[in-house]
Amino acid sequence: MSEKIVINEVGLRDGLQIQPKFVPTAGKLELCHALIDAGVRAFEATSFVSPKAVPQMADAAEVWAGLPLDKGVDYSALVLNEKGYERARDAGAKVFAVALASTETMNQRNINMGLEQATKSFAGIIARAKKEGFKTRAYVSTALGCPYEGEVSVKVVLDLAEKMMAAGADRLAIADTIGAGNPKLCETIIKAVVKEHGAERLGVHFHDTRAMAMTMSWISLQEGVREFDSSIGGLGGCPFAPGARGNVATEDLAFMFNDSGYETGIDVAKLRRAVMVAERLTGLKLGGRITDWWVSQERKAAAKAAIAAE
Ligand code: HMG
Ligand code: MG
Repeated sequence: MSEKIVINEVGLRDGLQIQPKFVPTAGKLELCHALIDAGVRAFEATSFVSPKAVPQMADAAEVWAGLPLDKGVDYSALVLNEKGYERARDAGAKVFAVALASTETMNQRNINMGLEQATKSFAGIIARAKKEGFKTRAYVSTALGCPYEGEVSVKVVLDLAEKMMAAGADRLAIADTIGAGNPKLCETIIKAVVKEHGAERLGVHFHDTRAMAMTMSWISLQEGVREFDSSIGGLGGCPFAPGARGNVATEDLAFMFNDSGYETGIDVAKLRRAVMVAERLTGLKLGGRITDWWVSQERKAAAKAAIAAE
């Protein structure tokens, strides 16, 4: 039997959060359904943040209420302060993602707290969620570089990861927020984190600004990581991290793992419809590196069908 990979779709949250055009709740749910139809079973579905800071996420509770909960799908909610945690919990979330940035400035810009305060605040949310019977996933963000402070030392990443795990985080996700990483740096960081915490509870979240995310995903796989964040069509970015481009595209990642004999549970051909839904909702031309090949396959299949019908 082939080895399982979890692809955690973050398009509904990370993918949409930067979009200026508000996608109505029904559209977000339509995208979620299209992804489920293609076999996606893990989502970061929304974030319970200030609607003033991120207007696109203003309907987090409505999105949560509309999620199809009966299909064996795992959902998590991004929360960045106590108020967000309480809103998400009251909406019905059971798994909470928190995002601690690795630098003072990034935390200030993102959540209006310095690094020390942010670390304490997220540790508190993790401990509270645990006490209340819920699960948590802690991002260590800007781990491969910060848009404001540049390089981040591996020591800092390890220290913050340790603090999140010590607070009781169930899972850890190493995030390259602005796509500043490269394969060598990725290998160094993932090796170091795996050495301290093992690979079983580790995920990765790579933005693809400089076309390194696929390679970094493969390198993480070699280090034992089996949980990967991605965004349909390569949507994504952070409003508070200038330069951040979309996450690695779900279709590229799922195709790479499927084609290499791993089991993602995702039917890549069916993701095409999800990309089209995302394009319609955002008005953007989307699609990962696989798109041209996908289209050529469709053309070939259509030509074959036309010949057969003659
Ligand atoms: P603040 O201004 O410090 O908060 O913002 P405050 O406690 O002073 O409150 C100010 C106002 O916001 C109050 O309302 C609060 O009620 C309200 P007012 O009295 O003015 O009417 N408020 C909230 N409303 C709804 N939900 C909340 C909430 N909190 C306060 N949770 C805050 C602090 C964190 C809220 C704000 O800075 C914020 O929302 N920031 C959003 C940051 C964000 O969403 N960033 C993108 C996600 S992180 C990311 O993309 C990285 C990731 O993908 C990994 C990677 O790539 O690295 C995860
Ligand atoms: Mg992100």
